[in-house]
Amino acid sequence: MSSADALKRKAAEAALKYIDGISILGIGTGSTVNHFIELLAERKSNIEGAVSSSDASTELLKKIGIPVLNLNSVGDLDIYIDGADEINPHLQLIKGGGGALTREKIIAAASRKFVCIADAGKKVDVLGAFPLPVEVIPMARSYVSRQMVKLGGSPQLREGFITDNGNQIIDVHNLEILQPIEMEQTINNIPGVVTMGIFAMRPADVVLLGDENGIQTLTV
Ligand code: 5RP
Repeated sequence: MSSADALKRKAAEAALKYIDGISILGIGTGSTVNHFIELLAERKSNIEGAVSSSDASTELLKKIGIPVLNLNSVGDLDIYIDGADEINPHLQLIKGGGGALTREKIIAAASRKFVCIADAGKKVDVLGAFPLPVEVIPMARSYVSRQMVKLGGSPQLREGFITDNGNQIIDVHNLEILQPIEMEQTINNIPGVVTMGIFAMRPADVVLLGDENGIQTLTV
């Protein structure tokens, strides 16, 4: 296990206490969440099911015998556990490095508590060094890319990648996101954008960061 991976594992372990007494979980996507799913295997008897944010997580959940539920059938969730690519001091995030941002944003919105798990290297003062993922309807990718240039970014199509929803992703480099809520609203309003990876209107409620000394717990 690489050192970043060991820190992700620590963060995943720290999240276990947040699911005590909760029978239906929201589950994100990515290598940190994969650790969390592995850990769930030992506690699955207490879990009725999970709402999954991606086909990849769905497959892992099914493999360990946790039923995957349809969000439309379960209503709002008590908890959502997911990773992030960047985390600022307000617990606003960039997500979507794994391309699952649309379903992730839906589940985060439908959850009463969002617990974000990550290695401490994901903490930043200002969002934007990580290229911002924007999921687009394929016919809109050039139009949306031109709008990203107007916002000061350098858009790059994620080559050979199709999301679970059948769309494409533009990764926008060189943005310094000083006003995350405004940027989220601006990009959301561009026709052809399905979802963009700033999670500022619905930030995390708790961030658990694995570092060399243990766990940093961030709340606002
Ligand atoms: C997937 C995501 C992931 O949470 C994010 O990319 C972090 O991934 P990892 O846990 O592998 O570092 O947003 O769409």
